[in-house]
Amino acid sequence: MGKLIAANWKEHPKTEEEARALFRAVARIKRPRGAEVLVCPPFIYLEGIAAQYGIMETDRRRGLALGAQDVFWAEEGAFTGEIGPKMLRSLGARYVIVGHSERRRFEGETDAAINKKIALALRDGLNVILCVGEGPAVRRKGAAAAKAFVRGQLAKDLRKISLEKKVVIIAYEPIWAIGTGRNDRPEDAREMARFVKSWLVAHKRIARPKFLYGGSVNGANAADYVQLKEVDGALVGGASLKAEEFGRIVNAVKK
Ligand code: 13P
Repeated sequence: MGKLIAANWKEHPKTEEEARALFRAVARIKRPRGAEVLVCPPFIYLEGIAAQYGIMETDRRRGLALGAQDVFWAEEGAFTGEIGPKMLRSLGARYVIVGHSERRRFEGETDAAINKKIALALRDGLNVILCVGEGPAVRRKGAAAAKAFVRGQLAKDLRKISLEKKVVIIAYEPIWAIGTGRNDRPEDAREMARFVKSWLVAHKRIARPKFLYGGSVNGANAADYVQLKEVDGALVGGASLKAEEFGRIVNAVKK
């Protein structure tokens, strides 16, 4: 993996037609060498987008992947409204975002549930992007408090999960930076990247841990993150909904 630029569309756009148009535009972005693009649309659009993806030329597909924004912790069963990892795989999703702060906040998602989701998603062959990050009250206490908070999330969310031969990418998304235009200072994101990676090496024996930064990334500031050697890419919300702006982020990978 070079640098991963991941689009989290969240609950956007409102119609399938718009989703298809957005995906078409994103797929057309010329990706510089070393840049990989991941698109995570709402579940409901995955099938249509996977069909578009399926008819693209192989060359255009290289370095472009599909993912989902969540997954359930059971493969199938009496779980109304839920979607399992094999269902996602069967539609062509390779990645899944787990533990996004919006799900923790609005869906009451707990670390225990996140832990079960990650375990099953990995077992079923999905690459996992685990979101962590502190809220404003913790950040106000300083960098050490933020690290302690993130360490707690990592320990609980990855509890008893062996990451050997598995892909778990950590997306650090401080809550106060999401959708606020207040992106983290790149030097602080770098410090968090070093911290998270050394934790993964020490506790999960991952040889090459991966770290993404997320939170108000846009075309103007993306290079400040994705060009850092400690940062392996970005997880982008709002700015991923405009193909041109997203294209600038993808191209920020190029030195
Ligand atoms: P924004 O890029 O809109 O701040 O959202 C970040 C995010 O939550 C991506 O998962």
